[in-house]
Amino acid sequence: MYSRITGTGSYLPEKILDNHDLEKMLDTSDEWIRDRTGIKKRHVVVDGETTCDLAEKSARNAMEMAGKTADDIDLIIVATTTPDRIFPSTACLLQQRLDIHGCTAFDIQAVCTGFVYALGVADKFIRSGSHKCALVVGAETLSRILDWTDRTTCVLFGDGAGAVIVETSEAPGILSTHLHADGQYENLLTVPAGVSSGYDKLLAGEAYVQMRGNEVFKMAVNTLGRIVDETLEANNMKKSDIDWLVPHQANIRIIKATAKKLKMHMDHVVVTVDEHGNTSAASIPLAFDVAVREERIKPGETVMMEAFGGGFTWGSVLLKL
Ligand code: ACO
Repeated sequence: MYSRITGTGSYLPEKILDNHDLEKMLDTSDEWIRDRTGIKKRHVVVDGETTCDLAEKSARNAMEMAGKTADDIDLIIVATTTPDRIFPSTACLLQQRLDIHGCTAFDIQAVCTGFVYALGVADKFIRSGSHKCALVVGAETLSRILDWTDRTTCVLFGDGAGAVIVETSEAPGILSTHLHADGQYENLLTVPAGVSSGYDKLLAGEAYVQMRGNEVFKMAVNTLGRIVDETLEANNMKKSDIDWLVPHQANIRIIKATAKKLKMHMDHVVVTVDEHGNTSAASIPLAFDVAVREERIKPGETVMMEAFGGGFTWGSVLLKL
């Protein structure tokens, strides 16, 4: 038995901040941001708009594409680093919004690799036979944990949500998932505040992303190169067997380095970082939904998703649409 993606959806908040807007707020330039990252603009939430709001809209779009109603869903997983509350989980809040009652629902926290982790977990639930129809969401309001006076971080991120429906299937869908982490790099990319430590910063609204960008960049390029090899090897596939790369959208230079490793032309790499910025756990399902709805990725094609994020965490999913 396999699990297969049968619907995709996404949602971006209406408010847009482009690089020229940032020029007015910080000592930065459109040219610097575009040259170093490929980002032109990002969407951000307004006061009162939450991660669950974005998750709900993306989930409804995915359910509509898959032709599923609330009664069909028996598993909800939300990958997020920016939950609405400490508890209940955003998955439980989303379950309530969708009028779903009683099914398994939980959050996954693996920062930018969150969606890959969530898809990996959903695949295992479905393959085990315990669940039949999963709603898997990546949703973030990263703008809430950015120091908007720190030009080395705030220009990079954006808000959004993406979702997929994953169902049981006799035909191959998700072929393999590969999930990794190494906590020894905790300080290269972190928000050093939480409930049981640094709570004062959380209360003061000073829980911000801190990143040693250059070191993260090098680790990301090397690690993603290795995960590509691991994924191909596990499936006994060649680079030329992959039709599409849907990478985590952190930086166009990291994306190009992974595409080069796969010997893939950029026409077969889904790129949304220019329009969305880095939306963390939402970035892959957002990019995937864009490419599926534009009918660039077609049924039967082979897709590799890969991500790298805080933790460090990293992983990949190989699937047939
Ligand atoms: N505008 C203008 N200048 C800037 C800005 C800015 N927004 N930010 C930094 N600079 C300056 C720096 O101060 C530095 O100036 P200096 O040379 O006078 O000291 C100069 O630009 C170069 O800085 P670097 O940090 O060396 O620039 P780099 O080429 O490494 O690019 C970047 C920085 C874009 C952050 C890059 O390192 C990167 O993309 N790293 C990976 C980040 C990433 O992908 N994080 C997320 C992965 S995990 C996840 O998604 C959570």
